[in-house]
Amino acid sequence: MSADERQKPSFVAALDARQRAMLAEMGVRVWAPRAPVSPPQAPVEPPVAKAAETAEAATAAPATGRPPVPLQPAAPSREPARAPARPPGAVAADTSGRPGGVGQMDWAQLREAVSNCQACGLCRSRTRTVFGAGDLAADWMIVGEAPGENEDRQGEPFVGAAGQLLDRMLQAAGRSRQGQGAEGVYIANVLKCRPPANRNPQPEEMAQCEPYLVRQVELLRPRLILAMGRFAVQSLLGSTEPIGRLRGRVHRYHDVPVIVTYHPAYLLRNPIDKRKAWADLCLAMETTGQ
Ligand code: URA
Repeated sequence: MSADERQKPSFVAALDARQRAMLAEMGVRVWAPRAPVSPPQAPVEPPVAKAAETAEAATAAPATGRPPVPLQPAAPSREPARAPARPPGAVAADTSGRPGGVGQMDWAQLREAVSNCQACGLCRSRTRTVFGAGDLAADWMIVGEAPGENEDRQGEPFVGAAGQLLDRMLQAAGRSRQGQGAEGVYIANVLKCRPPANRNPQPEEMAQCEPYLVRQVELLRPRLILAMGRFAVQSLLGSTEPIGRLRGRVHRYHDVPVIVTYHPAYLLRNPIDKRKAWADLCLAMETTGQ
């Protein structure tokens, strides 16, 4: 068994028949851990202060009781860092179809701003914007890539086949988008509009959309971010390394722990890697102590 294939013993012991059935559905065999795992990390402090948006950020009313905390530059770390040339939120002036003051917005204002956004060409081909879904007090945040056809039609993230797999994965980890707090998740994408024919997000589109994701993290203040796929990793960690090289350890987005894992659409095409995705979920559970 590889180091990737660690599991949280108490979690394994606690699996009920339904969860085992879900794991079977994911194509994951439950195994006993080879060695004790390290104790869960202490809960992380909320992200604090991002330089570019610090002055704007502190005033918005929280939807959750947790005040939004502006992100600040991450402390120097050996973890892969964001590309220094393009710090979060510093990529584009608010002059091109995105309303100003994103860093001051509350959830309702942010959702409205996204629904009216014309900052890149995707606004011309989208049916609906896809803002995000889930519990605003969830302590896990899932970051995917971009809406697909179903999401574009329904205005909800991850509602197609990949979303169904994501839901099963989350259920196996004791969470759902309907759950709350420690049983919930909040799901958002790097891009809020569908790229035509589901092509890859372009750098300019990611740059224009980035302030929205930054603000979502500030407002949610998750205890953990699960970065699914290479575009989420690029946006959050500024890394273009393959997922396989980044998974299995805890990265940081400012102060927030980030677990890198495969995108569910990739897992549908490569079911052999569902085992690794399950190990990633176990690492996420370890990291937040749940
Ligand atoms: N893939 C994503 O990355 N996000 C979605 O919302 C749907 C599919």
